Amino acid sequence: MASLTIRKLDEGVKTYLRLRSAKNRRSVEEEVRVILGELIEGREEPLTPFAVPSSAPIAQRSGALPEAGVTLIIGGGIAAYKSLDLIRRLKERRIEVRCVLTKAAQQFVTPLAVSALSHERVYSDLFDPQSEFDAGHIRLARECDLIVVAPATADLMAKMANGHADDLASAILLATNRKVLLAPAMNPLMWNNAATRRNVAQLQRDGMVLIGPNSGEMAEAGEAGVGRMSEAIEIATAAERLLRPPVPRPLAGKRVLITAGPTHEPIDPVRYIANRSSGKQGFAIAAAAQAAGAEVILVSGPVDLSDPPGVTVKHVESARQMLEQVQAALPADIAIFAAAVADWRVANEGVQKLKKTSAGMPPLQLVENPDILATISKLTDQRPPLVIGFAAETEHLIDNAKSKLARKGCDWIVANDVSPATGVMGGDRNTVHLISRKDNEIEVDSWPAMTKEQVAIELVAHVARSVTDKSLNDKAPEPAS
Ligand code: C5P
Repeated sequence: MASLTIRKLDEGVKTYLRLRSAKNRRSVEEEVRVILGELIEGREEPLTPFAVPSSAPIAQRSGALPEAGVTLIIGGGIAAYKSLDLIRRLKERRIEVRCVLTKAAQQFVTPLAVSALSHERVYSDLFDPQSEFDAGHIRLARECDLIVVAPATADLMAKMANGHADDLASAILLATNRKVLLAPAMNPLMWNNAATRRNVAQLQRDGMVLIGPNSGEMAEAGEAGVGRMSEAIEIATAAERLLRPPVPRPLAGKRVLITAGPTHEPIDPVRYIANRSSGKQGFAIAAAAQAAGAEVILVSGPVDLSDPPGVTVKHVESARQMLEQVQAALPADIAIFAAAVADWRVANEGVQKLKKTSAGMPPLQLVENPDILATISKLTDQRPPLVIGFAAETEHLIDNAKSKLARKGCDWIVANDVSPATGVMGGDRNTVHLISRKDNEIEVDSWPAMTKEQVAIELVAHVARSVTDKSLNDKAPEPAS
């Protein structure tokens, strides 16, 4: 039977247990026994993130990424009935909801209905001894990732704009350091009233986010105009955008072709010529381009790395196989040649393993490999609009890289010093210089030492900017003559 050391529990769980045991006049150990007993009998719900007092937002507390928590303040208006649907809509997006009802809201929806939908107790009283025992309004204000006020009545917004805190809802709104989303709902005359206009402007200046109101029929017979609360689904979508802002995907719709790693040039069936490239830089670029929304094809020589998720990887051995796969992957919008391709291969690869003979060492005749970067840069039909090469040098880095830019015909060169002292070959860090052409001038942009992942992210950001600038220029209207 396993034993449990209370001391070793998470701080939040310990605080919860102390509060609960004090309330029930039991020792903490006894309280744990009671909770476990209730759990076994099915009388106690397993602890939800809300049940554990902690000042961290729910998204940080729960391990699983999509979990988030909202404190939903339901104001007193006829639109309160839509908040019941809002609870459901938030929960189906894996957002936990803890509800606060104003006094007026209870005229429209019952705490029982709200609690049944949220699977949580409902809070309504600033002076509730049970929840204020441990500063409940502060916890409700902070133990969430977002506060949603729906319906946000004219009165509630007036209180917020002026910093009132005479009931639980307004006290939470004054005590919070979380983002607040307001879904106003009121009669069109109230919405257009000068006082409401002032309050709305003030709340927006204070950083509150508003959704709606929409225009349409009012509950009051024959009245219509702007003042209807947004639909539950609209509010839930707005809440989700605030909780999980969309990740920028500047390369969405672009196809990026990348080469990485060394090549192995066979001497015979068991021997080959290779180099020390690890492929880490090319793989990091592939992952960064994929994260930026691109469709990525990575042509890799033999490496000891796992394929980056979401990337199409073509595994090859030799330079000639790499060229074949690169050509097969065209067309592409951007091509980045980070592979350390062997310059030479053995002219007459042995069909059988070469044997030691008394005649001495077999002569190895070398011939030049195809230059993949130069071949693709010089294409006339399928040349990708942006071609980037790498220059790994051990001396005269910038000068060699500049002449490589001209010789190979690419658009940018990422130059890095690979002398053994730098530890770049096979290592995790890289110091690079981005060499590009601008208005017939060659520009050198030197970056500080970074991890290969950071270099990749920076390079992809440069690519994304250049692609955006280019499409903006392409779309620019002809100057008037
Ligand atoms: O000529 P060098 O090997 O220094 O050129 C480096 C650049 O050219 C890198 O971008 C590399 O991927 C590319 N390259 C190539 N095919 C070769 C040799 C180099 O694509 N055969």
